[in-house]
Amino acid sequence: MKIGVPKETIAGENRVAMTPESAGMLQKLGYECLIQSKAGEAAGFNDEDYEAAGVKIIKTAASLWKEADIIAKVRIPTETELKRLTKDKTLITFFNPGGNEEGLELAKSKGATVIAMEMVPRISRAQKMDALSSMANIAGYRAVIEAGNNFGRFFTGQVTAAGKVPPAKVLVVGAGVAGLAAIGTSTSLGAITYAFDVRPEVAEQVESMGAEFVYLDFEEEQEDGAATGGYASVSSPEFREAQLAKFRELAPEVDIVITTALIPNREAPELWTEDMVEAMKPGSVIVDLAAEKGGNCKLTKMDEKIVTPNGVTIIGYTDFPSRMATQSSTLYANNIRHMMTDLTPDKDGQINVNMDDDVIRGATVTHQGEITFPPPPPKTQAIAAQKKPEPPKELTPEEKRAQEIAAFKKETKTQATLLGIGGALILLAGLFAPASFMQHFIVFVLAVFVGFQVIWNVSHSLHTPLMAVTNAISSIIILGALMQIGSGSVLIVVLAAVSVFMAGINIFGGFLVTRRMLAMFQKS
Ligand code: NAI
Repeated sequence: MKIGVPKETIAGENRVAMTPESAGMLQKLGYECLIQSKAGEAAGFNDEDYEAAGVKIIKTAASLWKEADIIAKVRIPTETELKRLTKDKTLITFFNPGGNEEGLELAKSKGATVIAMEMVPRISRAQKMDALSSMANIAGYRAVIEAGNNFGRFFTGQVTAAGKVPPAKVLVVGAGVAGLAAIGTSTSLGAITYAFDVRPEVAEQVESMGAEFVYLDFEEEQEDGAATGGYASVSSPEFREAQLAKFRELAPEVDIVITTALIPNREAPELWTEDMVEAMKPGSVIVDLAAEKGGNCKLTKMDEKIVTPNGVTIIGYTDFPSRMATQSSTLYANNIRHMMTDLTPDKDGQINVNMDDDVIRGATVTHQGEITFPPPPPKTQAIAAQKKPEPPKELTPEEKRAQEIAAFKKETKTQATLLGIGGALILLAGLFAPASFMQHFIVFVLAVFVGFQVIWNVSHSLHTPLMAVTNAISSIIILGALMQIGSGSVLIVVLAAVSVFMAGINIFGGFLVTRRMLAMFQKS
């Protein structure tokens, strides 16, 4: 069969659904690859690159749609494109089936199979085909870059000869795929980053990325993430009030706000209100990733950048992935390639739409003259939400003491056993080995024991400075060298002098390294 990729028709769309690399993989599955001339140009892939990868270049969109059995594209197909479908064709693309009834009807009437990339269920097995996540990841990254481009200061704090610069404060609202990507980018640029999400289970991820999770003094039972397909559910009015109160408190403090809050199949919740924008400092920036669904900020204008009277820039672009077309095309083409791998179990270049497969069933929206959207809930549950860890049980002073005694007893028992074994071995060796050997051996065993005890009780983070110090201590050989330096032989004097010099480096170097390392632990 032939897989064809047309040039995107929506103005400003730079992405392409196949890269020369993904074409190579598709050919390994047994497919012949076609691409419309110049389809990859805006994403940085020219016709020669495709030809070199064995892809046939087709001049016009009409002939490509005619020749290909499977058509892969990025944007929701236009009416003209859908009219080019026939019974035996399969279209793989973003389709927005929930809001594209006409498109569904047209595809159904043509008898074609449509696989909607945004319908890939969020289950572990399908992550490699999850195009929404790939694109949201890029959008989160780009949102921070765009904010930085419109923000007049550094992200990271700096002390320069010309003065001290405080670090920027960034708040990310919604820590899903886009939010986590924004948090990662913001912390790596050195900003103080706060993040909020209605799902408390993401707090650990947020904190592991170096940001601070904003907690509310409010307890609300969220539905299990598994039951909601890994997405959030609607929060209660009381929770929302508590959330807004917290945001009002943060608004005058933060320099950049990136909002990504989304509940599937709903308008974006309004979370950054007009009074919060008014409370922000001039020069602050809001990037509203939810602009396409109405925006998390009421003042956001879709696909526009505005500056409010108090000097706050609000960015509502909806094409962040297209602004990084090479990266997003590479990831999207990989998602398509993985989808094709699942659709070609025998690797024979023949598509097999297996409606018993959860992932394929979930993404297929029209098949054999039927509309198959919405799909039934997947048999495999979405990546389950982590339950909040149980808080550690408060122990009474007696229980604490009993625990300490038990731990001490256990440790003492282990040490006594080890000492017993060691003593028995020395005794055994003493029966057979010469006395001079035993003297050295006992010193060696004691040194090992004492060294072990010293190091074991030092925190792991301090092991390197500790080693530097023990390294310096090991330079006790300097004493031997000093004792030999007065001997008559020239050779011994030279060797002793070299030893003193080397041991000197060891001693002073060890302490210098330790000093520098300890300075890294000290807060300035
Ligand atoms: P996601 O579903 O992974 O994350 C959304 C997060 O918002 C979830 O963690 C959810 O718990 C949280 N959330 C829901 N209600 C909330 C509330 N009231 N307060 C705080 N957090 C709340 O979605 P994903 O994939 O990260 O996408 C985020 C947004 O980015 C979507 O609106 C999507 O349409 C948009 N997007 C925008 C692009 C652009 O170019 N502008 C490109 C790609 C995605």
